Amino acid sequence: MSQDLFSPTKLGSIQLANRIVMAPLTRNRAGQGNVPQPINAEYYAQRASAGLIITEATPISATAHGYPATPGIHDAAQVEGWKQVTAAVHAKGGKIVLQLWHVGRISHPSLQPGNALPVAPSAIKPAGQAFTYEGLQDFVTPRALAIEELPGIVADYARATRNALDAGFDGVEIHAANGYLLDQFLRDGTNQRQDEYGGSLENRTRLLLEVTKAVVDVAGAERVGVRISPLNPFNDISDSAPQRLFNHVASSLSPFGLAYLHVVEGGMGGEATPDFDFEDLRRQFKGGYIANLAYDKARGNAAIASGHADAIAYGAIYIANPDLVERLRQDAPLNTPDQATFYGGDAKGYTDYPTLQG
Ligand code: PHB
Repeated sequence: MSQDLFSPTKLGSIQLANRIVMAPLTRNRAGQGNVPQPINAEYYAQRASAGLIITEATPISATAHGYPATPGIHDAAQVEGWKQVTAAVHAKGGKIVLQLWHVGRISHPSLQPGNALPVAPSAIKPAGQAFTYEGLQDFVTPRALAIEELPGIVADYARATRNALDAGFDGVEIHAANGYLLDQFLRDGTNQRQDEYGGSLENRTRLLLEVTKAVVDVAGAERVGVRISPLNPFNDISDSAPQRLFNHVASSLSPFGLAYLHVVEGGMGGEATPDFDFEDLRRQFKGGYIANLAYDKARGNAAIASGHADAIAYGAIYIANPDLVERLRQDAPLNTPDQATFYGGDAKGYTDYPTLQG
């Protein structure tokens, strides 16, 4: 029998009631100390009919932050805050994994402990501006991480994973996409290191593999996913040979036996992108595959029926449609997301989108 968005499946050890995944979405509504609040639990619980929820990107350490009011997973109060979220989602039968995030150079001294410079593989300033508590400010030239500091970053991922499991998550997703720290190491536009973490494909992939091993050692491979975005130019990132690089990334991750690879299959802003064979990428990786980027119901069903993807992650449309699964099932009209309330604010544009029930 042919599978579609509504067929149950398993990604690693995580049982999904359907193949409609809520993509990670930054919403900037955490409380003081980057602690999740009751309203965040309400927001995620409203979306618990998704086969799987991937949380908003969640900083793994104080230096991993790059935006205001993002919830962290590096202290006890944050773990307590997240417990309300996982309990609320589980009470409605949902599954939820936490996305582990280090922004690297996509930050600003005003968001860093001691107003320090953000860190990166190499001291290359991104074009553009950081979102800070004081408004938009130009990015600065980051500080290149010393090789001696990298084990500490790997340890931060491991500790954050322990925290996520303590908070009740069903698993974790390593964010290696969208121009943040691990992606900055992968791509040659941002990684110009001369040591074992720069240069060759093996070297540029090394930090991601060390992080993956550390996270797998804590959570078990069957509860770990990795997100990549081979073509996304977001955050001023680039690579001279993305197919070569990301085929290598996928084939190097494959032996871990991970729950899934989650792939942003283009530019997040709809940018024109070079040719890329995502089927070829997919063949390099044994394990689940979550496809993301502007899929609708028909394309989602087609990608699942053809075997291209095991599940489809829906982003902006999930902001506006808490009951997206039911709406897609019924071919009901979708609410339109209000961009003005995507980042920060209160319940407006967050927990007040109507369901079909009203
Ligand atoms: C954002 O805040 O715009 C953002 C955060 C994480 C992503 C992508 C975009 O992976």
